Amino acid sequence: MRLIEELCAEHELIDAGIGALRTYIERRIAGVAGVDDGRRFVRFLRVYAAGFHHAREEDVLFPALVERADRPEAGPIAVLREDHLRTSALLSRIEALLAADPLDAAHAQELHAAAVEYSHVMWRHIDAENSVLFPESEPRLRRAGVFELPTRSATVEEAEARDLGRALVAAYPPFDDRMVVRGDGCVCCPALGESCPGLERAWWSDSEWEELDDHLGEG
Ligand SMILES: [Fe+2]
Ligand SMILES: [Fe+2]
Repeated sequence: MRLIEELCAEHELIDAGIGALRTYIERRIAGVAGVDDGRRFVRFLRVYAAGFHHAREEDVLFPALVERADRPEAGPIAVLREDHLRTSALLSRIEALLAADPLDAAHAQELHAAAVEYSHVMWRHIDAENSVLFPESEPRLRRAGVFELPTRSATVEEAEARDLGRALVAAYPPFDDRMVVRGDGCVCCPALGESCPGLERAWWSDSEWEELDDHLGEG
């Protein structure tokens, strides 16, 4: 399905762009990066990641899953929507802190904490969509008779923001954060057992559970 393929491909640049933001912020705090690139990062993340990418998930994919594939609004979709809101608020906080010039020690500490939180939520969110939401969505949409979903090209402004992201990734090699747990499946998601029972419990039908039992019985 073209929309899902596009969203998955967009994750690669967004993922790298978040790592580049972390590198930039380390350098900014060390006093070796200027304020202008901070504005460029915010523009890339707001216009391309939140504006173009998240908007097509919220406006096209999530409604199709609820309205056409009869998936519940609660559970995985609600968790992913909440991540979009949380990261948008964190990005606004980062933007306000990046505007300080010079950056004093208290603001630097707050900026670092906000960037770490933003990156961890975004990276886990990308993993959850790539490994759980997208692969589970396509067969369900197909079964509901939905073989394609509408998509669109980036506007001139969104394409400029994407190009800005590519240039920033080239200028700031993405930070490799060993403190974040990344990987496939619901097990890495902090919402599991809190606000979401996991995709299988939230989405699977009785026949899917029976198929799994049969499969395990054969093994
Ligand atoms: Fe998303
Ligand atoms: Fe996404």
